[in-house]
Amino acid sequence: MQVEAFAARLAEVRVVPVVTIDDAADAVGLAEALAQGGLPMAEVTFRTAAAADAIAAIRAARPDALVGAGTVLDPATVDRAVDAGAEFIVAPGFGPAVVARAAERGVAMLPGAATPTEIEMALAAGLSLVKFFPAEASGGVGYIRAIAAPYREVRFVPTGGVTAANLAAYLALPAVVACGGTWIAPPDAIRNHRWEAIGAAAAEAVAIGRRAAS
Ligand code: 3PG
Repeated sequence: MQVEAFAARLAEVRVVPVVTIDDAADAVGLAEALAQGGLPMAEVTFRTAAAADAIAAIRAARPDALVGAGTVLDPATVDRAVDAGAEFIVAPGFGPAVVARAAERGVAMLPGAATPTEIEMALAAGLSLVKFFPAEASGGVGYIRAIAAPYREVRFVPTGGVTAANLAAYLALPAVVACGGTWIAPPDAIRNHRWEAIGAAAAEAVAIGRRAAS
């Protein structure tokens, strides 16, 4: 998926569930729960050995869902993710080798950026959509407001400390396309197959996103 199409999809859903899956056998149940709640998408983090299999399982079971890879820290992981079917790549920071590999593989890249220098590195690479990470710890809404002023074309996906309680405040910022986070499907809820709770949290996030959009 190209970055423009990815950005357009993010602007529609407004929320990116960041998921860490221990057992790839849980992936489809999780994707169903998220879709049930109105969020047919997930960023599957490469923090567990199951990540690639989980992405492949979701792609096979839910072709309608948008599935990407998170915590991608090196070019080899870009390859593993794309080979598994990841449609977008997310990183916590700006890694030039990761960004270059994603471009070679023709997959949308969402690099992390939390400082003016990192934003300018992204812009130099032709990327104006960045993950603002870690959002709350870096200064949250006020920081984005300040940093967005000189970078008028940059769009942010705040992630890190975002919850149902502060989601609306982030989404109200014109520079914010969508927010990401683990609050919708925390690792513990995935492990314990708490699909109803995950579906309800997804639905709540979608409702907050709709209100923010109107
Ligand atoms: C990420 O991987 O993007 C962050 O760890 C998500 O942060 P959160 O757990 O505070 O949502």
